[in-house]
Amino acid sequence: MEACVPPVNTGLRGVIVASTKISHVDGAAGKLIYRGYLVKDLAESASFEEVVHLLLHERLPAPGELKAFQALLARERALPPAVVKALQAFPTSAAPMDVLQAAVPLLAAYDPELADRSREAALRKAARLVAKFPGIVAAWHRIRRELPPLEPLPELSQAANFLYLMSGKPPDAEAAGFVDTALVLHAEHSFNASTFAARQVASTRAHMYAAVSAAVGSLSGELHGGANARVMETLRRIGSPDKVEAFVDAELQAGRLIFGLGHAVYQTDDPRAFILAPMSQRMGERIGEPQWYDISRRLEKAGKAAFKKHKGLDIYVNVDFYSASLYHALGIPIDLFTPVFAISRIAGWTAHVIEEQYADAAPKPALYRPKSSYIGEYCGPDECRYVPLEQR
Ligand SMILES: CC(C)(COP(=O)(O)OP(=O)(O)OC[C@H]1O[C@@H](n2cnc3c(N)ncnc32)[C@H](O)[C@@H]1OP(=O)(O)O)[C@@H](O)C(=O)NCCC(=O)NCCS
Repeated sequence: MEACVPPVNTGLRGVIVASTKISHVDGAAGKLIYRGYLVKDLAESASFEEVVHLLLHERLPAPGELKAFQALLARERALPPAVVKALQAFPTSAAPMDVLQAAVPLLAAYDPELADRSREAALRKAARLVAKFPGIVAAWHRIRRELPPLEPLPELSQAANFLYLMSGKPPDAEAAGFVDTALVLHAEHSFNASTFAARQVASTRAHMYAAVSAAVGSLSGELHGGANARVMETLRRIGSPDKVEAFVDAELQAGRLIFGLGHAVYQTDDPRAFILAPMSQRMGERIGEPQWYDISRRLEKAGKAAFKKHKGLDIYVNVDFYSASLYHALGIPIDLFTPVFAISRIAGWTAHVIEEQYADAAPKPALYRPKSSYIGEYCGPDECRYVPLEQR
């Protein structure tokens, strides 16, 4: 019998389960690094396509490589007609994250290289997933509104093509640029819950689509990717900047979460939040709805002050906080906020699956198999004795 361990619920906080070269979150310094590069520098200067290349191929592309990579993504964007047909079979009330998750194994069924276990084929599978994710989200959005899905435009970037596939109109450069930056900022974040889910599945040697499907499910939760939608609901509930302080006090006193605040790793400002904030402000002004940004600013301030007062804790806004009002101002419906996160994070998930399955240097990844502490409360210190059915 193992020694009795007091009940624990660590959520693996602070536990290092594997090594990675893909990214680093320095929670104390508020730094996020993708393969050696600060995300704030990438957000300022690199396109999402460059960042996907960096994550998957371990370096920023040279001009010719970027052109070839953009062409590959454009070629791979179209969805197999059978996948579109399957999306059409969902009830229009289906949650977009559920539809996205369900589409992933369908894509596996139409991947011509599913059985090819080489690293090169894995990189091509990753590119296919990155290329197709925006099309799934946009196709579902149109199908549920009884509109026909659109064919992708190869000359557009991933970001611009997504906005086009949603609305039927190619976006202006500023809107496409803001989405591109948001995709760069959300592409990777080390061993967050969904990436951990992907790596855990990949560690069993299941294929990339199985790992990605698990990751989509994990991202949908409101403590993770689902938080951006909850932030927008919160802003709407508050309604105007002068109601923020009373709202914060009431929520904290009732023991409820304020979405968009707090992070499992950052103990300071999330570096992504303050790149998103000015974009949210600008887009809000552009559509004549500055109030969402104004409420967000005041909520950030009031949230910090109230946390200090009620809990004696410092709290900071996370990536979901300003992305909510930005996506709203870009015309994206609330229930597509988390799918937009997914069309970016697919880059990080697939990079991690490849690292998990094709690491060429020691230490090689191992099958994930943590332990739990069993609470044996059923029959005292002994095992229970089986009682035949008719005697119970
Ligand atoms: C992200 C999150 C799950 C991290 O949780 P965590 O690692 O437990 O965070 P901490 O250890 O710093 O929490 C300390 C305390 O503050 C509370 N807290 C943290 N974030 C909070 C929030 N946004 N609203 C209310 N209370 C919060 C915790 O419940 C905990 O309270 P307790 O000590 O009474 O149990 C948490 O901050 C949260 O739920 N945030 C809201 C959801 C969200 O925005 N998620 C997106 C993350 S990118």
